[in-house]
Amino acid sequence: MLTSHTLLCLLGVVATLTNALGSSPPFPRILHERRMAPPLGWHPLRRADPDTILPLSIALRQSNIHHLDDYLFDVADPDSPNYGRWWTPEQIIGTFQPSLESSETVREWLFHEGIDAHRVDLSKDRAYLRVNVSVSEAERLLATSYYVYQHEDGSEEVGCHHGYHLPEHVVEHVDLVTPTVHFEKVRLHAHAGRRKRSAAAASDYSWQMRRPQGVSATKPSMVYAHAENCDKMATIDCFRALYNFYPKLTQTHRNTVGVVETTGNDLNGNDLDIFLKKFSPAAVGAQLPTFVGIDTDDKPDFGETDPNLISEADLDFELMIGLLGKEQKVTLYDIGQSGSFNFLLDAFDASYCSFEGGDDPEIDGVVPNEDCGDKPRSNVISISFVGGEDLPPAYMQRQCTEFGKLSMMGITFLVASGDDGVASNGDNLCLAANGTPVPGPGAFLPNFPATCPYVTAVGATQVDPGKSVHDPESAPTAFGSGGGFSNVFPRPSFQERLVQRYLAQLGRHAVDPTLFNSSGRGIPDVAANGFPTAAVIAGNYSIVGGTSASTPIFAAIVAAVNDARLALGKSPVGPINPAIYSILFTGAFHDVTNGTNPGCGTNGFPALAGWDPVTGLGTPNFPQLLLQFLALP
Ligand SMILES: *[C@@H]1O[C@H](CO)[C@@H](O)[C@H](O)[C@H]1NC(C)=O
Ligand SMILES: *[C@@H]1O[C@H](CO)[C@@H](O)[C@H](O)[C@H]1NC(C)=O
Ligand SMILES: *[C@@H]1O[C@H](CO)[C@@H](O)[C@H](O)[C@H]1NC(C)=O
Ligand SMILES: *[C@@H]1O[C@H](CO)[C@@H](O)[C@H](O)[C@H]1NC(C)=O
Repeated sequence: MLTSHTLLCLLGVVATLTNALGSSPPFPRILHERRMAPPLGWHPLRRADPDTILPLSIALRQSNIHHLDDYLFDVADPDSPNYGRWWTPEQIIGTFQPSLESSETVREWLFHEGIDAHRVDLSKDRAYLRVNVSVSEAERLLATSYYVYQHEDGSEEVGCHHGYHLPEHVVEHVDLVTPTVHFEKVRLHAHAGRRKRSAAAASDYSWQMRRPQGVSATKPSMVYAHAENCDKMATIDCFRALYNFYPKLTQTHRNTVGVVETTGNDLNGNDLDIFLKKFSPAAVGAQLPTFVGIDTDDKPDFGETDPNLISEADLDFELMIGLLGKEQKVTLYDIGQSGSFNFLLDAFDASYCSFEGGDDPEIDGVVPNEDCGDKPRSNVISISFVGGEDLPPAYMQRQCTEFGKLSMMGITFLVASGDDGVASNGDNLCLAANGTPVPGPGAFLPNFPATCPYVTAVGATQVDPGKSVHDPESAPTAFGSGGGFSNVFPRPSFQERLVQRYLAQLGRHAVDPTLFNSSGRGIPDVAANGFPTAAVIAGNYSIVGGTSASTPIFAAIVAAVNDARLALGKSPVGPINPAIYSILFTGAFHDVTNGTNPGCGTNGFPALAGWDPVTGLGTPNFPQLLLQFLALP
């Protein structure tokens, strides 16, 4: 079987050479992208029919993208005179639009290979080339062989997981080509990379669990509303006391903050009311969130009572509104059922839109009448769902770049670091020696987009049993606070000092250095209490938890910082990482130095003095954080 495939493949290449030699010699090719193996759950079924038509999309490299870090630090580095002078959308588009040279180079190559110019379609903003080709044409262009792959659920895909090739002179003009190695076509709630965090049950939640869900109900008589027993039930008052968070908001009419959810995951308005009455009486009467549907006709349903659907959104909005009060409107971004962040990014930035930017129809699906740059942005955006960093690197890099571009407009993205310690969130995968994600043991697999350096990754903490809000918090024991080092994104300069310090200390502890990539970006950046969180779900007082709770808590704190800056006529804080890692912010966090984040059959990393890949810089000390951010231009 395998032999005959190989043979077919070789014959195909020979035929190509003969054809091409008839006109002009083919360009030498180099490998552009490949996978070590098909993604988990997929296997090759048969060679693709040579006559099948493939909608080939070629994402052109953006101009100046190698300067993104320089541009970003110019406005986000607290030492820069331009701090806080965020870019306009026009500046972003003008700077990063792919060059004419890139589109022409790719066009000429296609023409050289016998693809008539009239078949090739260039998007308005020159970011994407599309051409319908037969499988045999695609195999020739990309020096690959296409297969039909089948998923365990029966669905089929055409792709070439073992890689594709581009001419040397074309490589530098192309980010990625689809359909090729990017499988994981969006399937409802099934994709290994984009799982929603579920609120977790206190009783049966442990780091080994793959898909924690459900909640444990608590008798109302056992509910503590004040900053006491925060080891047993963490409430709004606990967070206020822990982080000294008593903001006086004055700019709620113009400050903005949002939470991302997938379709159907709306909060229940009644739950919110019960929660606020009990845990944040001053916020009673808060309005329901402003619903912004992205690529969905969904109407918000704030009456849904299925705990599986509402637990995440209930938790997110109860915490955020409970902390920010009734004056601050909060936006709910519903990004549809696919859970692809690209739709959110598209909705903010038209230049990134489907067929004009970073979307990969193979991963994101194709959406008719997609929302492009027409949705209101928020100064702070909280994202509580993540998945393993096991999508093709070029895809993650392009999406991360987009987070970077949007953050340069002054948006702070806060992303949960995951709840499975050093393994991937939700499905607990680790990396086999050949780089394939597998159930552990294996090398550590951190979560994307938390590993993107342009977002702020949020880990979790707990008040230890028998301790109070006056004692230092620890890493949670009910689950592992997601953390580790990226295998895709190198360590950004803002982390250099503190991550090096951690690695030097780690020398004395037992973490097998072959299990993680110490040159990668470290996560999380910060942490906040994530267990055992009080919530009201489907009318019941419940104990839930996870970095799902930590993320909206931290997002509320950043929103309050923005409120105070706006009051002084300053800009929102945007991408905060360069600032918070600087020496200026040393006192702005409570260092967490106790606990680990187990996963992949190991204890994970230890929390140590200073930054660590369990709790990042630590939990916020709001007055100090505010003071430092108010001191910046
Ligand atoms: C490719 O074919 C599809 C379906 O026939 C069509 O809608 C699309 O416009 C074609 N694209 C190009 C670039 O010709
Ligand atoms: C809420 O409480 C009711 C009554 O005690 C129970 O039947 C239901 O299962 C609980 N829901 C959850 C999500 O625990
Ligand atoms: C380690 O991370 C770097 C990015 O920092 C990456 O280029 C490299 O491929 C990674 N190595 C492995 C073995 O994953
Ligand atoms: C460290 O954390 C454990 C729980 O993981 C807790 O029992 C212990 O009291 C903590 N120790 C200190 C010194 O905080």
